[in-house]
Amino acid sequence: MKSIASAPGKIILFGEHFVVHGTKAILAAIDKRVTVTSTFTENKTVKVNSQLGTLEMPVSFSCEEANSEFRPFVYLANKMINSNQNVNGVEITIDSDIPIGVGLGSSSACCVAAAASISGLFKELSSEEILKISIEAEKTIFPDTSGADCTVCTYGGMIVYDKIKGIEKIGNIFDLNLIIANSMIPHITKNSVEKVRKFKENNEERFSKLCAYETRIIADVIRVMEDEDEEDYNIIIGEKMVSNQMLLKEIQVSNDTLDGMIRSLTLAPDPDEDWYIDGAKITGAGDGGCVIALVGLDIAMEYKETEENLRRVRAVLGKDKECFSAKIDTGVRSKTEQ
Ligand code: PMV
Repeated sequence: MKSIASAPGKIILFGEHFVVHGTKAILAAIDKRVTVTSTFTENKTVKVNSQLGTLEMPVSFSCEEANSEFRPFVYLANKMINSNQNVNGVEITIDSDIPIGVGLGSSSACCVAAAASISGLFKELSSEEILKISIEAEKTIFPDTSGADCTVCTYGGMIVYDKIKGIEKIGNIFDLNLIIANSMIPHITKNSVEKVRKFKENNEERFSKLCAYETRIIADVIRVMEDEDEEDYNIIIGEKMVSNQMLLKEIQVSNDTLDGMIRSLTLAPDPDEDWYIDGAKITGAGDGGCVIALVGLDIAMEYKETEENLRRVRAVLGKDKECFSAKIDTGVRSKTEQ
């Protein structure tokens, strides 16, 4: 028997980092996915095949003994094998089209897809159960995770996330035309989160003000998204992205490359070029990784075929940056085959 599950990558539209400290965040699942295929094996081992290499470890070993990139898979496989006496081992194959280490949720999508795929060999779990064990798996490499990434990878669509209260669905979702641009600088989320924690410790009062600004930005965005009659929604959301970027800059998770990309994207439009971006910001932990840009509404309507939008963004950012359009996607999907 084969159990196959796929989960989407994600973008954070608003609230990264601040969400770790209790504010809300708005996230969306995107149409770049990771697929995990699991099968039973006769060997008493957990075997993981991925683009990063192969690992085979006796089931009796704990996940801490694996390299960090394999730890969540070993954790999940061990957890399920150990609760079922009739099973010897499991082999897991990971196939991903989400770029690694650039803030698009590759590791969370892997945790969610692996949780659904491995558990599918044993019994079908609910979305809540998949989410719970995928967050446990993610904590083996990133103990401070807010859980936001795994949540959007599980449920898909666009969500509001709160670390304590969990997921809230947004009532009405406008069609946002978003472009993702990769700075090609990899980052380590754990290090950026640690840096922000130190910033908070050294600037307690200012940090709580920044959290209050972030809360206000998110409340305004939710209000706009839920108001079907708001014609200027794209402009307002774009402005809020710009405000959110200022907060991220202040907590020092932006850098010259990211600032330069955002500046080039949001500069006043060329009068000869009928094309503009309403707002741009970092998405994810920052210190590298990706930025997102919201294409002006008239432009988005005119150039429905996103290739034209991408061509313009590439022209602004240069050839050394990877750009792609983001469509909002569904959450985890799974099936079994004999
Ligand atoms: O790992 P990334 O780049 O997808 O970003 C994670 C988002 C943070 O808010 C920085 C951390 C978290 O756990 O929410």
